[in-house]
Amino acid sequence: MKLFLDTANFKEIEEINAWGVLDGVTTNPTLLAKEADGKKDYKQMLKEICAEVEGAVSAEVVSTETAGMLAEARELVQIADNIYVKFPCIPAGLAATKAARSEGIRVNMTLVFSPAQALLAAKAGANFISPFLGRIDDSASGGMEILSQCIEVVKNYAFSSEILASSLRHPMHIVEAARMGSDIATMPYEVFTKLPKHPLTDIGLKRFIDDWNQAKEALGA
Ligand code: E4P
Repeated sequence: MKLFLDTANFKEIEEINAWGVLDGVTTNPTLLAKEADGKKDYKQMLKEICAEVEGAVSAEVVSTETAGMLAEARELVQIADNIYVKFPCIPAGLAATKAARSEGIRVNMTLVFSPAQALLAAKAGANFISPFLGRIDDSASGGMEILSQCIEVVKNYAFSSEILASSLRHPMHIVEAARMGSDIATMPYEVFTKLPKHPLTDIGLKRFIDDWNQAKEALGA
């Protein structure tokens, strides 16, 4: 499963990228707005992220009609070769996906909350389909079950779309997504940094180092 970071914060991306396991980044208008400081415009921010990360970097349109979405998409892909354009899963977004794909623009269909939407996104040719699990959980429904149904629909017909488990809130979301065979998972920095943590690793490491230090002289180290 590919691991993406869901942020527009460059420092967070740089830190996780140094681990050598980061496959891409997802941004959205809210995440870019969070980083706005009046010094860099959003295109500059995206450009720097695209230069840091080798894999896909998603950037979202804000138009809600097809022509506007396509005009934004054409501008966004000028920023860097690894930009994937996020269109919302509404009829205008499906039409934009179909047209964008015919121009070679790679698409991440976002704001997906049901397997019916995933089926439409796959038929329109989206490269990534992003079910928002955490937001489904927030509305007292089962996000994991929806993810599993989206995976089933795409795999049943061998669509080339990849399922991108999104809106993940804790490490178990990632583990369950991986067990279900999700192609990709995107998560915030706070969740990514929890993934390598285990108290037994810390206890075990401390014991190895203490034992080594105690016998250092005898070991000739
Ligand atoms: C994915 O591409 C979205 O940016 C993201 O996962 C949304 O997550 P949220 O529900 O925590 O805002």
